[in-house]
Amino acid sequence: MSHSKTTEWGSRIGFILAGAGSAIGLGAIWKFPFWAGTYGGSAFIIPYIFFTFTIGVALVMAELAIGRAGRGSAVSAMKRLGGPAFAVMGGIGVLTSYIILSYYSVVGGWCVKYLFDALGGNLVTSDPKLLADNFGALVADPAANISWHLIFLTLSCGVVAMGVVAGIERISKYLLPMLFVLMLLITGRSLTLDGAMQGIDFLFNFSFNKLTLESVMNAMGLTFFSLSLGCTILVTYGLYLKDSTDIPSSAGWISYLAIQTGILAGLMIMPAVFAMGQDPKAGPGLVFITIPLVFSQIPFGAAFAALFYVCLLVAALTSAISLVEVVVAYLCHEWHLSRKRASLLIYITIFLLGSASALSFGPWSGWTVGGKILFDLLDYVCTNIMMPAGGLAIAILAGWIARDKFRAQISQVRKYPEGVLRFLTFAVRYLAPVMVLLVLISGL
Ligand code: PFF
Repeated sequence: MSHSKTTEWGSRIGFILAGAGSAIGLGAIWKFPFWAGTYGGSAFIIPYIFFTFTIGVALVMAELAIGRAGRGSAVSAMKRLGGPAFAVMGGIGVLTSYIILSYYSVVGGWCVKYLFDALGGNLVTSDPKLLADNFGALVADPAANISWHLIFLTLSCGVVAMGVVAGIERISKYLLPMLFVLMLLITGRSLTLDGAMQGIDFLFNFSFNKLTLESVMNAMGLTFFSLSLGCTILVTYGLYLKDSTDIPSSAGWISYLAIQTGILAGLMIMPAVFAMGQDPKAGPGLVFITIPLVFSQIPFGAAFAALFYVCLLVAALTSAISLVEVVVAYLCHEWHLSRKRASLLIYITIFLLGSASALSFGPWSGWTVGGKILFDLLDYVCTNIMMPAGGLAIAILAGWIARDKFRAQISQVRKYPEGVLRFLTFAVRYLAPVMVLLVLISGL
């Protein structure tokens, strides 16, 4: 077996940035800003922060602890700790990552295409109809849609093929700090526009009367999606954790960076959207139609648009890399493939599966299940059913079946006060399963 079992992250910071890279993706940059606005600003943000720092952190720790204690792919790590039933749940986690990758890569392709257009000066225009038509034409054009998907997939699989330290960790150490700096730059531009305060108000106003069951449930769902929970990503990243790395503080950092990026994305996008009189609730079109429109009206807008798509691409790429790694680790450990062969196998098969998702916007749009085209169907099943089911399995495994191992893992490096350990165990045993069940029920 060419995949060494002793592969370890080179440094703690490298591991934290790789974990944060998985978390920070389209969820933080695109979903968070407009959901925050839609669901009443702080009435959404406060529950979101609360969930992230309670149940979110607890589940991040649970996944990392299972990975390090089980020292295997998600399947063998979960089997070692919980027996054959949990091996099946680990397998479902790997499958979920695989399926998410197939359609995430299509969206990643759109990010590459928009970055190219922005760099070539062909993107920003003040004609909203033209922008909407361009986006519609891209997704409906099979050759274009599939080609951009292929380019994005080549990048993602290429990085993973290079290795955990030389590929994933190295690229995260460059790209994530760059992402934060670029986001600060764009935020500075956005906040200094006339009328920017309206955007701040939209994001952060305290309309607690908007605090509804729906907003709270969505805050929970976003916590889950944005921390990449339930598809064994962090179980796999935990496999490479050094024994000397403290799990609770690392989990805290990953969660903090995810929240910070969401808030920064809100500050980057919403003030500009309001200053330019655009609709903040434009949904999926926000990043591909509204943003170019907004930048077209700002001095040096074309340059800032290019920077924006660099951010979006970096965020999507580091998340996709984590999805590839879960499947690669599985193939290396369970099927004894080399890392390069495993990456190649994923590359070819995901190219085909992703192409089917890409075609579902155009020639195959007539093929629907419950009114959903293939792309939407896969997203729906993964986000609303498979990820929560995976999260439930993780919570039961760490909180009930392998509770002692979980506690040993989280207090292995630093001695935390007994009260902290007790709360974390309580969160994994009771809070997390209840939350996951609520997410599942609301998703259905
Ligand atoms: N956390 C990523 C985002 O917010 O875009 C999405 C994601 C990546 C979800 C990887 C699940 C996953 F396994």
